[in-house]
Amino acid sequence: MRARINRWTPARRNLVFDDDIRTSLVQPHFVVAGKDVDQPIPSMPGINRQSVDVLLKTIDLDMKMGLFSHMLFLVLDAEKKDPTASFASNANSPLHEAIRALKKKYGGEIVIMTDLCLCTGTDHGHCGVIKRNNIENDETVEHLVKIGMSHAKAGSDYISASDMMDGRIERLRGKLEEEGYHSTGLMSYSVKYASSFYGPFRDAAESSPEFGDRRSHQMDIRSGYSEAVMQARNDQSEGADILMVKPGLPYLDVLRKVADAVVRPVAVYNVSGEYSMVMETNKNLLQRALVVREIFNSFKRAGADIIVSYHAREAITENWI
Ligand code: PBG
Repeated sequence: MRARINRWTPARRNLVFDDDIRTSLVQPHFVVAGKDVDQPIPSMPGINRQSVDVLLKTIDLDMKMGLFSHMLFLVLDAEKKDPTASFASNANSPLHEAIRALKKKYGGEIVIMTDLCLCTGTDHGHCGVIKRNNIENDETVEHLVKIGMSHAKAGSDYISASDMMDGRIERLRGKLEEEGYHSTGLMSYSVKYASSFYGPFRDAAESSPEFGDRRSHQMDIRSGYSEAVMQARNDQSEGADILMVKPGLPYLDVLRKVADAVVRPVAVYNVSGEYSMVMETNKNLLQRALVVREIFNSFKRAGADIIVSYHAREAITENWI
């Protein structure tokens, strides 16, 4: 464990330790190759896939409005995908380019989180390497370490492991130590359910599995509190700097239990399906403001220090919180 990681920069301290909802918010972004790309995602109104040049302009406006924490997802063209997501660790990918540009421009005033999973880079859409029809755990972890280290090298504040393989936090922390990355954080999606609320995201990231599902690694939706607490405490002891519960609204009770059971900061992911439901049923801005405010307060009350939400930008620019 490196206790200093969450204290390293002003933006990290504000995100993790300030109790205010405003400073707790993290905005997700989808990064694609090309120039001038600003492509709406039909199931997620207000959220676009963007090339690096457009993303930089978007985040520049966000920063001016007081939205300082950003989570980046790499979306790859089909021809860049292969069975092991090898392009995901390429230092010239749009994601790596974006990390470098943003850290160069904003330094410690921005928090960059980068998603770590094989699913957006594999041609079969699964979160790991497939052998004999199974997602191999330990071999997948080796690929995750390679991709994670490439994010660290580019300057990511927090590698955000959303893959749900066993043992990856320990391996990542070990490798970061070995290579001298003592200030790179690890946010672990510790308690991530095999949820039906990820549908719009998989459209956005073009990451749906071609066959089968994610139930051999993501948690069973029927699972009770003990497994959730076990997963979170395990990642805590493996050296995670932030622990996450995901999805948010259907698992507020789990969030509360986990927050009470760990001593590290806890994040919640207000996922794409939750976002789309709110957008679909609250087209009126004033009505949406009330609904989103209520949702954010429920996360805080249930113990979240950090809230990852597609509503972040609108909530901050419209002064809803
Ligand atoms: C990658 C990943 C997913 C989400 C975040 N990281 C999709 C999945 O697990 O299928 C979902 C986010 C959302 O629905 O907003 N593994």
